[in-house]
Amino acid sequence: MKKDFLWGSASAAYQIEGAANIDGKGPSIWDQFSHIPGNTYKNTTGDVTIDFYHRYQEDIALMREMGLQAYRFSISWPRILPTGSGRVNQEGIDFYHAVIDELIKNGIEPIVTIYHWDLPLELQQSYNGFGNRKIIEDFTNYCKILFTEYGEKVNYWITLNEQNVFMEAGYLDATFPPQENDYQLYFNANHYATVANAQVIDLYRKMKLPGKIGPSFAYKAVYAKSCDPADVLAMENAQELTNWLWLDPYITGKYNQITLKTIEKMGINLDITTQDIEILTKGKCDFIGINYYRTQTIKSADKTKEAVEVSKRTVNSNIKNFATDKLYLKAKNQYLPTTEWNWAIDPVGFRIMLRRLTSRYDIPIMITENGLGAVDVLNEEKKIHDDYRINYLSQHITELEQAVEEGCNIIGYCSWSFQDLFSWLNGYTKRYGFVYVDRDVDDNSKLLRYKKDSFYWYQQVIKNNGIKNFNNDNE
Ligand code: BG6
Repeated sequence: MKKDFLWGSASAAYQIEGAANIDGKGPSIWDQFSHIPGNTYKNTTGDVTIDFYHRYQEDIALMREMGLQAYRFSISWPRILPTGSGRVNQEGIDFYHAVIDELIKNGIEPIVTIYHWDLPLELQQSYNGFGNRKIIEDFTNYCKILFTEYGEKVNYWITLNEQNVFMEAGYLDATFPPQENDYQLYFNANHYATVANAQVIDLYRKMKLPGKIGPSFAYKAVYAKSCDPADVLAMENAQELTNWLWLDPYITGKYNQITLKTIEKMGINLDITTQDIEILTKGKCDFIGINYYRTQTIKSADKTKEAVEVSKRTVNSNIKNFATDKLYLKAKNQYLPTTEWNWAIDPVGFRIMLRRLTSRYDIPIMITENGLGAVDVLNEEKKIHDDYRINYLSQHITELEQAVEEGCNIIGYCSWSFQDLFSWLNGYTKRYGFVYVDRDVDDNSKLLRYKKDSFYWYQQVIKNNGIKNFNNDNE
């Protein structure tokens, strides 16, 4: 990898900070959602999580010991602005200064995510959050505060984390807050978020700050189930509605015509103004952040029942002629193993995705997440032998190295995650970290940190600037 390549790891505020109700922080939509019984695994909440808020120095010391070069974390909007706009919470501002300073002091590049899903509850309750275009102004004002405070210290900004995921889960599947299930609302809310993303990128440039800025996208490269043209066409439909709908405006500054027409034919009235179109053109990203976990396989709608079974989404929208199920269906890929959570494990798909991105857009790419969620066991000697995670990461990094040799411009790689953390709907059953945190649903656990085998393995990867050299050295 190039000299300035960053080997890092990532996290998000709601998943690690805890301290949900102290030092002036306001409630977020996730604080409310996770407290409603039945919404999360065994009703786990982010009230305490792994208590990074009080233990960040201990965690950063572990990062330094590992040799981590970059740490991606997110800022909690309601810790900075308890009601989303208006009064600023100085204790929140100070906390992130302290975290950023501690990272820099330890030689670790901070990569700051501005929004990782914890919207201030007030904005949801007063005007429906992303469902209203007012969000664009409030998000911009929030970003202005962050750029003013931290702009000189932070070289990499991630605007929105996985807009495609928080929109789909929040506005179609109703599994995340605000638990909506409405295609018309989904497309408009998504569009407002896309405009908000572009507007803050434009603002960042106008403020003449030294760093780079871009969103993180959950990219699932799509495969056709067969070479039947009907399946291939279905795959193309899926590309429009699961990839290009975001990547095109982020990178090229406009939606493509096929995406727009597909949405229109679904009976959706997209609330897009001339001013929006101008904002999109001005807010192209410097790099694209990619979160990669899996690929998806697609077949055409009039095929077999099997496809219908894996396309589980229930839809009660008041738009009746929308269903994407008529455009494409999800299918199983018989060539790929899966994780315990049934996610396809596909390292070659990682490379395919990077090549597709490069050939379509030719843009610098930062891998902002990649990792394996698994059940880890702390044994009697207080060790965690997570060879399955080492295998997973090692295969993915190997493909990443190939992609670089094949012409992709990758500027960094952040695994998900450094420490074990709260996995949204899965509590602590599903772990991703290099550092095991001794806790379960019980908020009174001791929260002790233990280094897993993968901790020492990644330490070597960083030291050797990749897997290729590492393997050669060990031969
Ligand atoms: C990404 C998110 O979607 O995937 C992370 O950005 C999340 O916040 C990660 O934790 C893994 O998902 P999950 O549901 O397994 O925790």
